Amino acid sequence: MAGRQRWAQLKESAPHILPSMLLCDFGNLAREMDQLTEAGVPAIHLDVMDGQFVPNLTYGMPIVAGLRKLTDLPLDVHLMIENPGRYVRQFHEAGADLITIHQEATGESTGEVLAQIRDLGAGAGIAINPDTPLSAIEPYFETVDLVLIMSVNAGFGGQSFNPIALEKLQAVRQAIGPEVLLEVDGGVNQETIASCVSAGADLLVVGSAIFGQPDYRQAVADLKRLSTSNLS
Ligand code: DX5
Ligand code: ZN
Repeated sequence: MAGRQRWAQLKESAPHILPSMLLCDFGNLAREMDQLTEAGVPAIHLDVMDGQFVPNLTYGMPIVAGLRKLTDLPLDVHLMIENPGRYVRQFHEAGADLITIHQEATGESTGEVLAQIRDLGAGAGIAINPDTPLSAIEPYFETVDLVLIMSVNAGFGGQSFNPIALEKLQAVRQAIGPEVLLEVDGGVNQETIASCVSAGADLLVVGSAIFGQPDYRQAVADLKRLSTSNLS
């Protein structure tokens, strides 16, 4: 099924917890994917970093292609890279179902790169860091499939949740169409997940609160239970 349609299904049954592939065991990806599948996650979040846009370097298309071979789950690829337009085609060919770019990395060419992603048939996402105002992405609300509100500065797992993300989530929830996915990423854990859901997030990206635990299935189940504890 084409990238974009797979995400529409997720929207109907939101909220969902998506594990972020940054703090996982890259020496045992098949085992990691088995455990995540058993934990019942509906999609996988892949953190691509280039050491330029963020002061960290992770992986590129080969790892996306490797994960594509290991799972049929939708792949949510978070590009924390300079000039992402150079690589969106290769990431889509490697298996990305949804590709999110940072407005801070694309500036004037943001609209063009988002259109490039959608023309490929992938879902198009736009992300902003905590210090970037919503006004930087408002012009794109009609042309994206996903808005990613970072609750940490992109670049590393294990950081503390920045509550400014909650105000931004609430504001974006009011402003975007009902079919657009709203995602939050960074410091989402047992203490912060419920407020993210009440603020309107559909997709909750979780790294250390899953991969720092011995049992991924238990960690996801606990997070799921807590995620709706604020909803009466
Ligand atoms: C940070 C990444 C996040 C991060 C989440 O740049 O985009 O996905 O890995 O990890 P935690 O949940 O530990 O903050
Ligand atoms: Zn991420």
